[in-house]
Amino acid sequence: MITVGDFRIGPEEKKIINEVLDSGRISEGKYVKKFEMEFAKKIGTKYCVAVSSGTSALIAGLLALIYSGKIKPGTKVITTPITYIATSNAILLAGLKPVFVDIDPETFCITPAAIRKVLEEGNPKEFSLILPVHLMGYTCDMEGINKIAKEYGLLTFEDAAQAHGSKINGKNAGTFSVMADYSFYIAHNIQVGEMGAVVTDDRHLAGLIRQVKANGRMCDCLECTRTQGICPHAPKDDNDLDPRFTHNLVGYNFKTMEFQAALGILQIGKMEEIIAKRGSNVKKLNERLSKLSDIIKLPIYSDDVSYLAYPMVLKKNNKINRLRLRQELEKKGIETRPLFGSIPTQQPSFCGYKEEYKGKLPHADYVGSNGFYIGCHQYITDEEIEYVGKAFEDIIK
Ligand SMILES: Cc1ncc(COP(=O)(O)O)c(C=O)c1O
Repeated sequence: MITVGDFRIGPEEKKIINEVLDSGRISEGKYVKKFEMEFAKKIGTKYCVAVSSGTSALIAGLLALIYSGKIKPGTKVITTPITYIATSNAILLAGLKPVFVDIDPETFCITPAAIRKVLEEGNPKEFSLILPVHLMGYTCDMEGINKIAKEYGLLTFEDAAQAHGSKINGKNAGTFSVMADYSFYIAHNIQVGEMGAVVTDDRHLAGLIRQVKANGRMCDCLECTRTQGICPHAPKDDNDLDPRFTHNLVGYNFKTMEFQAALGILQIGKMEEIIAKRGSNVKKLNERLSKLSDIIKLPIYSDDVSYLAYPMVLKKNNKINRLRLRQELEKKGIETRPLFGSIPTQQPSFCGYKEEYKGKLPHADYVGSNGFYIGCHQYITDEEIEYVGKAFEDIIK
C-alpha cells in the first residue's frame, strides 16, 4: 500500500518514549515545555502552546481572541470553503460565523480579490477576522490579505495545519498573523499521531490559550514546571487560592501528553530533511505523470512549499471521472483522498449554507468534486513513484 501518510517508529522514537515512561510523568511536563520552546524557535515566533489537536488549536486560538477583546463574539470570519472541515467547525464552535470566499484553483488558497469582494458587498462592521488556510502547504498571499485586513480593521489568523515550514519571502508561514495553528496529525508534514499547537508573538494571547486549554484555570504561566507546593504567583492577600483550581474563564481540556511532545521534538530535528524529501517526491511525481497533464492538473512545484501530499485535479474530460480513478488506484494499492469538498455546498453538516452559496464558489465547487490527493511522504521510494506512474498510465489508457 502506498499510503497518503506514514509514520515509522525507529530506535530514536523508542528511546525517547522510554525516557518519558522512565520520567514518571506522562501528562504535560518537561517534554511539552521543550517542544513548545523548540517549535516556537523553529517557526520564528515568541510563543508556542501545545494542545491536543489542530482542531483544539483553532478553537483555543479563536476563544483567546474573543476573551482578549480583540474580536467580538458572534462576528463574521472570512475563510476558505476548501479545507479539512475542522477550520469551519472551529469557527462555529467558538461562536463565530464563517463566511466563505472562493479559492485560486492553482494553489487552493483564498485570494485577496475574493476577500475584498465579500467585504465590499457586505457590512464590513460585521467582520472581525480573516482565517486563511495554507492548503497542502501552498501559502496564501499574506501580504495582500494583511493589506485588506489593515484597511478594514480586521485581524488575520493563519491555519498552517498543513504547512509546517512552508515559506513566504524566506519567513515561515504562520508568522504573518496574530497567531497560527498547526496540526501534527499522523498524515501531516510533521507528525506525532495526535497533537496541535498555536504560535504567536503575543504574550497575553499565549497565556489565554494556556488557560482555555486547561478549563479556563487562572494559571497562565508560560514556564511553570512546578509539580508541588503553593503557586508563587498566587495573590499575596489570598494564600488559600490555588490558580490551577480557580477558574476565571470557561474553557476545555485541550491538554496533550508527554509522548506526543517527545516525538514532536524528534520531528523538529528532522523537519528540513522531511520537507526536502516530500518536495523531491512531488518533483519526481510531476515528471513521471507529465504525459497525463492534459487530463490531470498536476500540482505546482515550488521549493518554498512544505507539501502535505500530492494534490491533483481532473480536468474537464470524458476519459475518466474521479470516483473511477480513485477506485482503480485503491485497487492497485495506492491510497487516495478527495480534496475535502467545498464546505458550504458539498459537506452535509453545512447543508444549511447550500442555498446561500449556490453558484458563488465555482473554483471550490470544481476542486471539491474533481480534486484528490495521494501521498508524497518521506518514506515513498523511487520504485514506488515509478509504480504510481505506471498505475496512472494503465488506468487512463
Ligand atoms: C487545514 C487544517 N486545519 C485543521 C486541522 C485539524 O487538525 P487535527 O486533525 O489535528 O485536529 C486539519 C487536519 O487535518 C487541517 O488540515
